[in-house]
Order: sequence, then C-alpha cells, then structure tokens
Amino acid sequence: MYICICRGVTDTAIRKAVCDGADRMKDLRACLGVSEQCGLCAAHAKEVLEQELLRKHR
Ligand code: FES
Repeated sequence: MYICICRGVTDTAIRKAVCDGADRMKDLRACLGVSEQCGLCAAHAKEVLEQELLRKHR
C-alpha cells in the first residue's frame, strides 16, 4: 500500500528501511524521501514506523 504518494513510497519500503536501521522519521526522510513534499503522509508513515519498531524489538 502506498503511504507517500509524492515519492511513491509503500509501507513495505518503510518496513524494510526500519529493518535496515531507520528508527526515526528523519531517517525515512533521508533514505526514502517520505514527507519531503506535501507532508500529508507524515502521520501515517510515523504509524508504520512505530508499528515496525515495536515488532522489531519484541
Ligand atoms: S504524500 Fe508524502 S510528501 Fe506528499
């Protein structure tokens, strides 16, 4: 599912980035460009990020 339309970033891409070490929105912005344009995806991207961090550290 697309999370960031502007940059064509999917939840899968975000999960993979977290798996590869991203743990803040700043990291997702740097590696995927998430929320760099309109910013509408920020809340949803953060939700996916937090879910994945919980899953990773469980
Ligand atoms: S939808 Fe992500 S910056 Fe616009």
